[in-house]
Amino acid sequence: MKMSVIGCGYLGAVHAASMVKLGHEVVGIDVDNAKIEALAAGQSPIYEPGLPELLVESVGSGRLTFSTDPAAAKGSKVHFVAVGTPQKAGSYAADLRFVDAAVQGLLPYLSEGDLVVGKSTVPVGTAERLAKMVEPTGARLAWNPEFLREGFAVKDTISPDRLVYGLPADAGDAARAKALLDEVYAEALAANTPLVATDYATAELVKVAANAFLATKISFINAMAEISEATGADVTQLADAIGYDARIGRRFLNAGAGFGGGCLPKDIRAFSARAEELGKGEALNFLKEVDGINLRRRDRVVELVVEALGGSAYNKKVAVLGLAFKPDSDDIRDSPSLDVAVRLNGLGANVVASDPQAIANSRRMHPQLVFGTTEEALQDADAVVVVTEWKEYRELDPKTVGDMVTSKIVIDGRNCLDVAAWRDAGWKYTGMGRR
Ligand code: UGA
Repeated sequence: MKMSVIGCGYLGAVHAASMVKLGHEVVGIDVDNAKIEALAAGQSPIYEPGLPELLVESVGSGRLTFSTDPAAAKGSKVHFVAVGTPQKAGSYAADLRFVDAAVQGLLPYLSEGDLVVGKSTVPVGTAERLAKMVEPTGARLAWNPEFLREGFAVKDTISPDRLVYGLPADAGDAARAKALLDEVYAEALAANTPLVATDYATAELVKVAANAFLATKISFINAMAEISEATGADVTQLADAIGYDARIGRRFLNAGAGFGGGCLPKDIRAFSARAEELGKGEALNFLKEVDGINLRRRDRVVELVVEALGGSAYNKKVAVLGLAFKPDSDDIRDSPSLDVAVRLNGLGANVVASDPQAIANSRRMHPQLVFGTTEEALQDADAVVVVTEWKEYRELDPKTVGDMVTSKIVIDGRNCLDVAAWRDAGWKYTGMGRR
């Protein structure tokens, strides 16, 4: 099928290339000329495992092209809207400028029977408003949220764990929209991927509800970490023990520096803001606690480093290992790890921060920080703090590292190190919510 993807950021670039892998013919459209040029040359603008190879293959097949001209969408049957919905300046609500502009820009190029498919994360009620803009062209609108995780984005797009279609209210329109989406996702459907076909509002809500649930799960275990710290309990064992209950499950119960990224933090805030607009703010009051617990974990990491250094980080060399909001990503949006590096630096510590992929992005945002290789960070350090659980940090040999540093003090901000091995090698180990 011929399709267009409007917005070639994280979501759009992965979606466009993945659709080609599924056999479709795709044009990716974005206002950012540099991004389009890079993508057209088969270069990935972000670090995402598997994406560079997929881009090269897709562009090479001739079925993936890119353009900055919205007119390139003409002739496509399905038009995915995958632009960003960041937090609005001065408010917790989502900024819908880019979504509105993308749909507005598409209107002159839509034909009777086309389907505009929203993938961006939006406040409930947005699809209904956009549908009214689209319908006079003879095209229809569907909402099809995505659930991809950074680091697994290609796999999550090609083999999603579920599909959600928010369809128009009119039965005929809904049937035609569903048929088109079924054709788009034929491969996933043939593999028995569960499908929930529903209305606009439910589809929009599924997305934010899923992220709110995940954020709540992380903050729940981080709240247990706070209690563990006050009582001498061990939150990792606690998570293992409650996780054996299949109703609870062990995934997303890793206590640590908390959640960051371009989705969870802004989505729970936008969801709360939307609930308030709907006069239902009370229903989501708990998300403010979820946010608060999450932000306290960053304070806690900094506190633990200062405590371990005897009450002051001033003029102490601190190796900060990790800047990305999670491993296998170069994304530093709302990253607790980068925040910890900045705060320690602000306390007068001589921070040398490292990350396998996120140094360039971090330097652009915080040029005042000193960055280096893992070795440069560790050499003569008075304390080591691990804040992003990259494999190469998890696998550091405590004996070798012990020979490089000045003091064997390690703060494990992600509870990802082998405690026994580090303690056996003579380290003063401090985890999050652990004895
Ligand atoms: C999240 C969701 O997991 C995806 O399903 C969703 O599609 C995506 O947002 C989105 O809305 O686009 P992502 O932002 O890639 O995906 O990151 P996650 O894997 O959810 O991790 C978020 C943060 O939580 C990271 O900072 C991670 O370190 C932290 N986390 C995760 C914990 O602190 N503890 C855990 O147990 C799990």
